[in-house]
Amino acid sequence: MTIEFQDVHASYDPATPILKGVSFRVEDGEFVAFVGTNGAGKSTTMRLVNGLIKPDSGEVLIDGESSRRLKTSDLARRIGFLFQNPDNQICSGTVRDELLFGFKAIGRLDASAEARVDAIVEEFGFNPDDDPFLLNRGTRQLLALASIVVLDTPVIVLDEPTTGLDYRECVKVMGVIERLHERGTTVVMVCHDMEVVADFAERVIVMSDGAVIDDGPTFRVLRDRRTLEAADLVAPQVVDISLAMGLLRPSLAEAPVAHANTIEQMCDAVAACVGVPYAGVRGMEGAPR
Ligand SMILES: Nc1ncnc2c1ncn2[C@@H]1O[C@H](COP(=O)(O)OP(=O)(O)OP(=O)(O)O)[C@@H](O)[C@H]1O
Ligand SMILES: [Mg+2]
Repeated sequence: MTIEFQDVHASYDPATPILKGVSFRVEDGEFVAFVGTNGAGKSTTMRLVNGLIKPDSGEVLIDGESSRRLKTSDLARRIGFLFQNPDNQICSGTVRDELLFGFKAIGRLDASAEARVDAIVEEFGFNPDDDPFLLNRGTRQLLALASIVVLDTPVIVLDEPTTGLDYRECVKVMGVIERLHERGTTVVMVCHDMEVVADFAERVIVMSDGAVIDDGPTFRVLRDRRTLEAADLVAPQVVDISLAMGLLRPSLAEAPVAHANTIEQMCDAVAACVGVPYAGVRGMEGAPR
């Protein structure tokens, strides 16, 4: 599935333009992060993707079809949407009903839906009878994510899936998203955490004041000081360290160390420099200390 914005202008009230000519195209299977300051228009862009709002001018094309002509229920079958705050999403009295809710909404509540819900309850380790509103913030966020995952849509749109979570919860949520992406799901994610963006996204779109100011591979965008400053973003530490290597010793400026974008790439590059084998960050988790 592809998502394409062609010179999209959008607003909540015609006197106040919010998106001022946004264009981009997301290909099938990509993992794209949207970043930028508060109020840049990221959530508005996500609402346009899933048809909650329509453009004032320009086109939002889902698989080449204008979102003006697609019904919200058609879009819901293709695009799962995680809201910025899970409490806006959760509406049922039990975990199980919450997971079944999406199937009801798209008219697909049958035996296979029930089986899928049971599998997700098992996979996420939920108690199906729990009251969602009594769960802690991290588990509610996981439930909101599970209620999208269960529908198995080809695209998921996630508006700040890790905000307000502690490190452990963040790892859990991102693990679920990474596995979906590995299975071929297209992931579009708004995220304020540049460490998460560097570790998971393949491409970054930077927004500022209702416009796209940069769009490219993560490793390039997160190294562009001018873009980061314009969008008031802080580069992930690993990027600072890798850039510093080149400043410390100019010969390192072209070495893989200086191009590392994730901790994984940094470890690989350092291992290659010093000539020791390296099993990968994940390989180190089980290693004796
Ligand atoms: N429902 C709404 N009605 C009117 N104005 C809105 C509405 N939602 C957002 N806005 C305005 O639109 C602009 C863009 O908001 P948006 O939520 O898209 O930004 P954002 O990039 O997601 O910001 P944040 O990082 O704070 O979530 C802001 O000026 C905001 O005040
Ligand atoms: Mg937002």
